[in-house]
Amino acid sequence: MEDIFGSMVDDYLANQIGISENFLSKDLCADLATNVKTLYNEDKLEKAKIGKTRDLTLNTEIRNDKIFWLDRLHNNAAENAFLTILDKFTLYLNQTCYTGITSSEFHYALYEKGSFYKKHLDQFNGSSSRQYTLIFYLNENWKAGDGGELCIYVNNEAIHISPTNGKSLFFKSSQLEHEVLPCNTNRMSITGWLKTD
Ligand code: OGA
Ligand code: NI
Repeated sequence: MEDIFGSMVDDYLANQIGISENFLSKDLCADLATNVKTLYNEDKLEKAKIGKTRDLTLNTEIRNDKIFWLDRLHNNAAENAFLTILDKFTLYLNQTCYTGITSSEFHYALYEKGSFYKKHLDQFNGSSSRQYTLIFYLNENWKAGDGGELCIYVNNEAIHISPTNGKSLFFKSSQLEHEVLPCNTNRMSITGWLKTD
């Protein structure tokens, strides 16, 4: 696992964005995708909001995805396996890069057909607790034409990243602006942040 973490960090240090195809196993991605579909079918996903924790607003002009926060209290095997990997990654970062991460938060996201998230930074005004963004795509059989690419701006250059199954991204939350282009079909992911208090 340390090899996979090391490659992710090396890629991030070289390119401002780390991209990995094997950070999560395909089996785990399949189980996590099943979780998102189940939550969606049971109508447990909530409309995503923007802003700081205590100052959230619903603004569907900016984003209109639906989310559900992961929590060990759900006692879901795949969810716990995912959170364990992310705890290990956090420890790895703190030990090798002195990042001082003290907490993390992750949510499932589902963008329905027509959904998007306009250009933004993940660090909100007035709050600098989010240090690193991680995104995991869970879309088996994604194809060009499905839309929902991530457009991320690195040195003012727009890079398009397809949300294909098993792809994981890692970048500094205060640094890279990004947007989710409109989706032509349902798009599933987990997004989260490594934080300092
Ligand atoms: C976010 C976000 C990007 C993506 O949730 O803040 O920018 O590709 N997500 O899902
Ligand atoms: Ni974002």
